[in-house]
Amino acid sequence: MTTLVTKVPIGFLSLLLIITIATKAAAGNFYQDFEVTWGDNRAKIFNGGQLLTLSLDRASGSGFRSKNEYLFAKLDMQIKLVPGNSAGTVTTYYLSSSGGTHDEIDFEFLGNLSGDPYILHTNVFTQGKGNREQQFYLWFDPTADFHTYSILWNPHNIIFSVDGTPIREFKNLESRGVPFPKNQPMRLYSSLWNADDWATRGGLVKTDWAHAPFTASYRNFNAPPAQSWMGQSLDSTGLARIHWVQRNYMIYNYCTDLKRFPQGPPLECSLA
Ligand SMILES: *[C@@H]1O[C@H](CO)[C@@H](O)[C@H](O)[C@H]1NC(C)=O
Repeated sequence: MTTLVTKVPIGFLSLLLIITIATKAAAGNFYQDFEVTWGDNRAKIFNGGQLLTLSLDRASGSGFRSKNEYLFAKLDMQIKLVPGNSAGTVTTYYLSSSGGTHDEIDFEFLGNLSGDPYILHTNVFTQGKGNREQQFYLWFDPTADFHTYSILWNPHNIIFSVDGTPIREFKNLESRGVPFPKNQPMRLYSSLWNADDWATRGGLVKTDWAHAPFTASYRNFNAPPAQSWMGQSLDSTGLARIHWVQRNYMIYNYCTDLKRFPQGPPLECSLA
């Protein structure tokens, strides 16, 4: 699939995207689908494009991005996070447009000491404005094996999923005055970097460089054809799953952070 031109009208653009995605084989290849953007040889591709690893040492982290831009997408990636003492490290996996008033859909994995839980941090930016954090613990050890992290972004909603279980939904509430990303194509980005000023217990636990290099692994990138997800939203089973995750694993929700929003939470919180 070639990079999309942003000047064409939206209907045509979506159509073009549907056609290009539909004709693209589902199985991902890291050589074909991504380019390393920083960290030099700290990002490595193996097995003819089937496996990618990012690493972080004292001098630098590393990152890659998709060659394609997407206007709506369903993207699945299997990731195995930095094992052992990963405190201070952050692994990101997100969609973002470029420019000042950008849109962004974020997964970030905040490392921890051996045996202490990672935090899965999520956010949604619309037209340059974020401040919509939700954080979760996971119901498994994300460093022991690969797990699938998915972003579904269509005109109706954004759904974050882990191993097929939806954990967060951001609905299109544009008609009620909440901006929704729908005009700016986004690329998929991922990186591994040092954020020990804030990542682990709010910055109290620092990166232990004696354990460097830190490594995260990626495989089985999948961008299924648009007709399978363009109309998708949560059914009652999906809603039940999201409630299960939010009841048992959510550790932060901006919507209920009254200290932060003394005037009341953002509009989408009361509409959702
Ligand atoms: C790390 O472990 C501590 C103690 O269990 C926990 O409070 C914290 O939420 C965990 N995650 C991060 C990223 O700090």
